Amino acid sequence: KKIAIFASGSGSNFQAIIDAINEKKLEADVSLLVCDKPGARVVERAEQSGTETFAFYPKEFESKTAFETEILKQLKERNIEFIVLAGYMRLIGSTLLSEYEGRIVNIHPSLLPAFPGKDAVGQALDAKAEVTGVTVHYVDSGMDTGPIIAQKTVPINKEDTRDTLQERIQQVEHQLFPSVLHQLFNQEKVGGVSF
Ligand code: GRF
Repeated sequence: KKIAIFASGSGSNFQAIIDAINEKKLEADVSLLVCDKPGARVVERAEQSGTETFAFYPKEFESKTAFETEILKQLKERNIEFIVLAGYMRLIGSTLLSEYEGRIVNIHPSLLPAFPGKDAVGQALDAKAEVTGVTVHYVDSGMDTGPIIAQKTVPINKEDTRDTLQERIQQVEHQLFPSVLHQLFNQEKVGGVSF
């Protein structure tokens, strides 16, 4: 499968996907990184792994439609079949959804529908939750609202700080995301059984 990864930050999930491919746990070709923060660490990771990058400043475009039109062109030039959001801190608009809905997944650091949106880890701590987790879901026009594909729980300890909890959640993400992608891509091969 030819995929594009969209990311805005450190790219540890980008790296986990690249590593899984190199370790032959996932069959995919990451043909493009799309990044809306050209200075982000994920851009370096893409360089190191030999992944082409389309990095852009959203402010240099008139509108979301304008930059998504450019992204779409980049995707089409490379025959991208599937979009993976790994810490892309923006809602996907109608330009991309109209072409790729059903073929876009996101990873979110909570058990959705709990704690959607920004700072899900902080939200879980503030709510004094005893458990949180990770969700992989299809992307629709809402904020972390699309159909859920897989979830994994992560217990919250009394001593947890933001950093320790975040670290534990990310470890789970790095396992879960490549393995869910593997299952999704392989199911499609045998005829699109729903997950
Ligand atoms: C992850 O925790 C992901 O769940 C959220 O953004 C974070 C990205 O981290 N959507 P990284 O850039 O992959 O390290």
